[in-house]
Amino acid sequence: MTAISSQRIKKIISDPPWGATLEIKGWLKSKRDAKDFSFLDVGDGSCIQGLQVIADSSLVNYQREIKKLTTGCSLRIVGVLQKSPAQGQNAELIAQEISVYGWADPDHYPLQKKKQSFEFLRSIPHLRGRTNSMGAMIRIRSRLSYAIHQFFQERGFHQLHTPIITTSDCEGAGEMFTLTALDLDQLVASPAKKVDYSADFFGQKASLTVSGQLEAETYAQALGNVYTFGPTFRAENSNTSRHLAEFWMVEPEMAFCDLEGDMNLAEEMLQFLIADLVNSCPDDLELFNRFVDKSLMTRLAKIKEAFTRLSYSEAIDHLLASKQAFEYPVSWGIDLQTEHEKYLTDSLFQRPVIVYNYPKNIKPFYMRDNDDGKTVAAMDVLIPGIGEIIGGSQREERLDILQQRMAECGVAEESYQWYLDLRRFGSVPHAGFGLGFERLVLFATGLSNIRDVIPFPRTPGSAAI
Ligand code: 4AD
Ligand code: MG
Repeated sequence: MTAISSQRIKKIISDPPWGATLEIKGWLKSKRDAKDFSFLDVGDGSCIQGLQVIADSSLVNYQREIKKLTTGCSLRIVGVLQKSPAQGQNAELIAQEISVYGWADPDHYPLQKKKQSFEFLRSIPHLRGRTNSMGAMIRIRSRLSYAIHQFFQERGFHQLHTPIITTSDCEGAGEMFTLTALDLDQLVASPAKKVDYSADFFGQKASLTVSGQLEAETYAQALGNVYTFGPTFRAENSNTSRHLAEFWMVEPEMAFCDLEGDMNLAEEMLQFLIADLVNSCPDDLELFNRFVDKSLMTRLAKIKEAFTRLSYSEAIDHLLASKQAFEYPVSWGIDLQTEHEKYLTDSLFQRPVIVYNYPKNIKPFYMRDNDDGKTVAAMDVLIPGIGEIIGGSQREERLDILQQRMAECGVAEESYQWYLDLRRFGSVPHAGFGLGFERLVLFATGLSNIRDVIPFPRTPGSAAI
């Protein structure tokens, strides 16, 4: 084998070193045989495009191997880069050497050239990353993740690693996965009908976190501005196209910040992330714009415009005045359903909408009471096609009011003394929000099912791979 360092196809295509001898390593996307040579389309995952390779019949292993190559085989190719005479194809590699790393039996390899449905691809999560669409999705996901860190770091936020194992239920919705080291089989067999968590690993009941917010609040009141970006877990039995049992959340938390500052940051962040993506991943986005959602690029471009902001009460008035027939009836006090959110974003305002000041009865204990006695300083960012993408609030910083809210919500004070301490010692107004990362990837790609924007989705009844 010729000793030469290999290059990624993305780099070769963006800045072609014409006439140079190059090595690439990747997987065969497709092959076409002509009389005395074959065209190989080889991809390496660095970008959506493959590189066309010309394999001449004079290659030593042409009859023995190259003619037998099929989609999915892994290859190493050394060749000379030249301008292609064919239209729509500006670079091609004239192969001097082709070696096969691994074969992919065409009778069993499930990803043949023909277009596969997203539903089918979900049944092979370990292989679907090799398709154009899933490859593009992961590159977009990766770039968004990078840009999130960039956005916060450039603004002086410090990243905080909040725990995954926790004993507090931030959202108070009782949707936590219990984490135990107890032997459940033995427990079932024992005569005691009650689980003794004091004998468990942590000496008390522990769960997987639903949000890093409460812990982020502690460090916001030490470092000013922090953010956490990690996996969160919810045992909510909603088998919808927008819910996962394991999803990633970005949660900034800011000291000396009110609800308006919170909304400003959320809007600025979404605009930054989408602008960065349009700049960095045009080819991957173009794929989704062509094959998944033809209005994608228009929608992404429109995010530059100011979001509509309205109070919950105003939102209810708009819904009541609408001619649309909703499945869930509208009245002041209801939690907005997806159909209501989509009416506001897709029909009425045709842009992202921030709804603030929700009724306190439908929101968790930590949100700041408004003076009207009915609402709390909450805000949700709703976006076209999806509905809620961000949920946030100003936090209750007044000790007595927080204690009263905890009592009303049935949250036991004993377990939250540390949280109350933050209100006892140097309490400050503060606010934050949580961005559902997969919902952001849905918005960015135009894909419609949340199972298609995370490599290994966890949903009710499904966590096989
Ligand atoms: O509105 P949520 O429940 O807010 C919180 O957890 C706050 N503690 C955040 C904070 O203020 N720091 O969740 C935030 C976002 C939602 O707007 C949604 O985008 C996403 O997380 N989300 C989910 N995404 C996928 N699957 C689920 N089951 C989700 N539940 C919430
Ligand atoms: Mg919410």
